[in-house]
Parts: sequence; structure tokens; C-alpha cells
Amino acid sequence: MITSVIKTTDPTQAATQGAAILRAGELVAFPTETVYGLGANGLDGQAVDRIFVAKGRPNDNPLILHVAEKVDAFRLWATEPPHARALMDTFWPGPLTLIYYRSAIVPDQVTAGLDTVAVRMPDNAAARALIAAAGVPVAAPSANLSGKPSPTTAEHVLQDMDGRIPLILDGGPCRYGVESTVLSLAGTPTILRPGAVTKEMLAAILGEVALAPSILAPLSAGEKAASPGMKYKHYAPNAQVLVVVGEAEPAARRLSALYDEFAAQGRRPCIAATAEALPFYGRRRTALLGTRRDPTTLCSRLFALLRELDTEADVILAEGIGTEGTGLAFMNRLLRSAGFRVEYL
Ligand code: TXA
Ligand code: MG
Repeated sequence: MITSVIKTTDPTQAATQGAAILRAGELVAFPTETVYGLGANGLDGQAVDRIFVAKGRPNDNPLILHVAEKVDAFRLWATEPPHARALMDTFWPGPLTLIYYRSAIVPDQVTAGLDTVAVRMPDNAAARALIAAAGVPVAAPSANLSGKPSPTTAEHVLQDMDGRIPLILDGGPCRYGVESTVLSLAGTPTILRPGAVTKEMLAAILGEVALAPSILAPLSAGEKAASPGMKYKHYAPNAQVLVVVGEAEPAARRLSALYDEFAAQGRRPCIAATAEALPFYGRRRTALLGTRRDPTTLCSRLFALLRELDTEADVILAEGIGTEGTGLAFMNRLLRSAGFRVEYL
């Protein structure tokens, strides 16, 4: 299959072309404000099956349905979820996915057999134009091969999906660079995956909000994942990733020592550094992620950096930070990419 890439400079034209493919039961990759999505007609189980094949995704891992308008969410849920209106009024369109009991129109392939469905309204004009033109909710996971870092540019999507899908809509780099916050409203409101809509922002509306234990730790043996996606290897580049969490200077000293050990073994290490720690690395090879004062910039660079370094380094040594605000989303992705190989200073 030939994979075409078209720019979304004219969102209507891109949407018309993409929607025709979606309605024919085929896949279209499209930009969102978080990461690129790999879309199919979300009401057509056979079309949704193709997503799992193209990504190599385990079929017990459910998908998010994307809508163009808030009202379109309600027919996907069995009843109106508690707190949904306040959350949608505050955060939609935007990087917040809401999970609640599914309605009968949602195919089993989307929910992987669960009785709940995840829904979100993206804050990206090209994405919403595509969904509106398709006239159906669009099922879309991140547009990477299963296990790889999520794509934040059309180029990343092409690296993983060339020859596997007919069309990629190129809307340039994604604003946030990490996937949406996933919040379950079935039972006690619980964050299953942290994102740019933070625990603190949600607590301002919900009062209490719980965090799934698997956000910062691997699932222990026998523990059931609140979100099936949590049990799989994730965001893993080919290089080995190691994380050291601590203040800038001590973290840099420890990472420098690790760097020298790997270099002495003939490995090709590179340090994913913050601006605060940069002066302590001397002449060692570093790639700048951003500043600790603004974890949102660290989030937006992380996946792109993991892909870039993959060709140049076989060990990526990364600084970990605190988990306040969007620091939680950053650490969740970083620790998963490292397979939880982490030292806390
Ligand atoms: O920002 C995003 O959310 C991107 C863009 C494309 O919208 N999408 C995305 O989809 O990240 P995906 O499939 O890569 O991640 C969806 C996560 C998975 O961890 C999945 O297990 C979880 O949401 N999920 C989906 N439906 C669920 C459900 N009914 N119950 C629990 N977890 C669910
Ligand atoms: Mg994904």
C-alpha cells in the first residue's frame, strides 16, 4: 500500500479526503493537540480491527472515540456520567479523555469487551474537521507501532506506518507531545493516565480524584490493570533508557558517572538533560529537553527526543523530576520508556 502525506494547510480539503477514506472503512492518521492519532470509523467494528493490525496492538487494549462536538459524546455512553458536564465545559475541546459505561452503538472492538468506553474531543482544527466530515466518532490510538514512543510529527507517523495505511494528514508538530489525561468516571473518579490536564486541575472541579497505582510503578504480579494499556511495554526506543531522579546537580553527577561507565564499555550513551543540570555534564554528549521549571516543555520534547536519539545512542541517561502538575505526565512516560529502571537520590 502507498502511504500519502498531505498537509492540513487547507483543513476542509484535507478533511474531505480523509473522511472519504474513513467512510470506506480504511485508516487515516491525523494530528491532535496531544499526539498523532490513527483513526478508523468508530462505529464500524471491522474498520476498527484494522487499527490493531496496522499497529500490532494487542486486541485487549481498548481505544478512545474522538468526537467533533460535545453533544456527540452522550450517545456513546449508557447515561450521562457524573461530573461530565462540568469537566467538558472546562476542558473540552482539550487533552482530557472521559471513561464511562458504554452505550449499545459502541462496537466491542473499541472497548476490547469492557463495559466502559473512553471519549474525547480534541483541540485541533484539522482533527475536528476530519471527524465532522466523517460524520461518525473516530476511534484512534496513538499512531505509533505498538510499544514505540507516540508520534508527535507526521514524519514520526511515516517512520512507523509507511506502507500500512493509505493517508497521513500532516498538521505539523503537536502542541503537548504527550497523550491526553485519561479519567474514569465509572466509580470514584480515577486518573488512569496523567496528561496536560493535571490532577490539581481536576481536583478543583471534582474535589477528590484518585490516581491509578500503575502510573509511577510497574504492575505487581497478580494486580489487575485499571487500564489495559498499562500492562504493556510502552514508549520504548531501541536504546536502553535509565532514569535518575533528584535535584539538578546531584542527578547530573550520578548520570555523569553512569555515562563514563557506559562509555568505558564501548557503549554510546547520551544524556537527556534539563537546562538546570546542563552545566554539570562538561563535554559529555547531551540533548536538551527543556527546563525543570516548566515540565510541560519536557513533556512536549520527550517522545521526539527518544526517537531522535535512537539512531545515535544505545543508552539514554535521563533526569527525572518531581511529580507536581505536568511533572506527573512526564515521569509516567519517562519511567515506562525506561521499563522502570530508575534510581531515586
Ligand atoms: O491523546 C490521546 O489520548 C491520543 C490521541 C490520538 O487522542 N490517543 C491515545 O490513545 O493515546 P491510546 O490508545 O494510545 O491510549 C488510550 C489509553 C490506553 O492506555 C487504553 O488502555 C486506555 O486509554 N483506555 C481506553 N479505553 C479504556 C477503557 N474503557 N477503560 C480503561 N482504559 C481505557
Ligand atoms: Mg498509545
